[in-house]
Amino acid sequence: MSALAPALLHWHARHGRHDLPWQQAPRSAYRIWLAEVMLQQTQVVTVIPYYARFLHALPDLPALAAASEDRVLALWSGLGYYRRARHLHAAARRCMTQHAGDLPRDFDALAALPGIGRSTAGAILAQAWDLPFAILDGNVKRVLARYHAISGWPGQAAVTRELWRHAAAHTPRRRAGTYAQAIMDLGAMLCTPQQPDCPSCPLRTSCAAHAQGLSARLPTPRPR
Ligand code: ADE
Repeated sequence: MSALAPALLHWHARHGRHDLPWQQAPRSAYRIWLAEVMLQQTQVVTVIPYYARFLHALPDLPALAAASEDRVLALWSGLGYYRRARHLHAAARRCMTQHAGDLPRDFDALAALPGIGRSTAGAILAQAWDLPFAILDGNVKRVLARYHAISGWPGQAAVTRELWRHAAAHTPRRRAGTYAQAIMDLGAMLCTPQQPDCPSCPLRTSCAAHAQGLSARLPTPRPR
C-alpha cells in the first residue's frame, strides 16, 4: 500500500458516490458481478434502469442459470454488446454445475468464467468480500497513468503491465472494496478524460502529471 489509498479513502467518504444500486444491501457477489459486467462498456447512468429491471426479473444466480437465453437477451435488450449477456448466462450455468451454485471466491476460478477478465474478477472479489485484489478499468488506467506520469498508449502490453503493477501496489489490504469504488469515483468525477479538476483532487500534491503539467496530455491517446 502507498499514501494514495488513505488519501483516496478519506476523499471518498466525503465526496464519493454512496448511492449506486450495487452498493446497497444486500450486497452479494451476484449483484456486483451483474453490475460490473453491465459497466464494462456502458456508463453508470445508462446501466442503472437496466440493472434494476434485470435484478428484479432474475434476483439471484440460480434464477439466471434457469432462465432461457432468449429471456436473458430480452432483459439485456438496449444495452448493446450482447456477447456480455451470453457470457453472463453461460457463466451462471457453469457456477451451478462446477461451483455449488455460487460465484467462486478464488481469483483464478473466477477469472476463468466467460466474460470475467482480470479487472472484473478483482472488482468482484474486492467489492463482494473486501479481498485485496486490484482493478484496472478505463477510469483506473487514467488515474494511475497521470499519478505516475506514465506515457504510452495504455492499450500497449508493456504500458498495461506497468499500470497493473501500480494498481496492485496501491490496493490496501483492508477496505479493498471501498478503495476500488473510490478510485473509480475519482476517475469518473475529478480525473476525467477532458479538463480534469486538479484543484479539487485529493492526490494533487503527489500526482506526477500534475507536477509536470501533463494531466491533460495523459494517458497517451491511441496512436493513429
Ligand atoms: N465502472 C465499473 N465498475 C464500477 C463501479 N462499481 N462503480 C462505478 N463505475 C464503475
